[in-house]
Amino acid sequence: MSNLNELLRRATKEHWAVGHFNVSNLEMLKAVVEAARDSKAPVMIGTSEGEREWWGLENIVALIKSLRADYSGIFLNADHTKSVEAAKAAVEAGYDSVHFDGSVLPLAENIKQTKEIADYARLVNADISVEGELGYVKGESQLRSEKVVLGPEDYTNPDEAAEFVKSTGMDRLAIAIGNIHGINLDEPQLDFERLAQIRRAVPAEVALVLHAGSGISDGDIKRAIAAGISNIHISTELRVAFRQGLEQSLQANPNEYAPYKLYKPVVAEMENLVKEKIKLFGGGNRL
Ligand code: G3H
Ligand code: ZN
Repeated sequence: MSNLNELLRRATKEHWAVGHFNVSNLEMLKAVVEAARDSKAPVMIGTSEGEREWWGLENIVALIKSLRADYSGIFLNADHTKSVEAAKAAVEAGYDSVHFDGSVLPLAENIKQTKEIADYARLVNADISVEGELGYVKGESQLRSEKVVLGPEDYTNPDEAAEFVKSTGMDRLAIAIGNIHGINLDEPQLDFERLAQIRRAVPAEVALVLHAGSGISDGDIKRAIAAGISNIHISTELRVAFRQGLEQSLQANPNEYAPYKLYKPVVAEMENLVKEKIKLFGGGNRL
């Protein structure tokens, strides 16, 4: 089994993407892992700082370790980590990957902190994958009926991306090209010209990551992968499938009290969604 960086390099070269799915309970984790295993797809399990606090760092690491004994294609990512301390704690706990989100910091400070984490992570785990972020991906992983307005300063600048990657030595770059977290009023308009410029500016061995994959049309997802994106994050759509599935299950079974019975259709609904995303990303049969 290749490590995550090797897999991502292969995905970039072959124009497919590794799916990254955020999970905050056992049912979501079960759905993602079963979908990945059935699809023979490598998959990243994401936990944001809030999700990590809910799970407990050691608990989620231990769970992934035990699931990996049955299916080896699972990688655990500390998603949107906002401080050097929290990033180091995830590395020490045994995460396979850490995403440092210094996107609100001035460029020089973002470079400094991302580099500190990349250097530290490699000392602890030679196989680890480190992601940095440049440009500001707005929004939260929620359903919202608001319009999110982006300014030019929110987008990733290709020249800065080249400098950022070179100065930090990280493995994956999260970019802002019109992608917005959550499902908002308008469908996001991706700036494909900017994506092409960033892809040209950044060495091919560095994976480009598209956050905020929920609500982006299938056509735009395919275009983004063809243009060099090899890692795509999905959270909101999975949260919506969980909540809608649970509401339906409770309504359909008013006299049922066994959680595993109530959750069965909910897990099936989330599993289907993950399988569809894996298919869309071209991530199946890659192990
Ligand atoms: O890091 C998490 C993702 O970027 C999720 O974004 O909620 O728009 O799918 P999403
Ligand atoms: Zn994100």
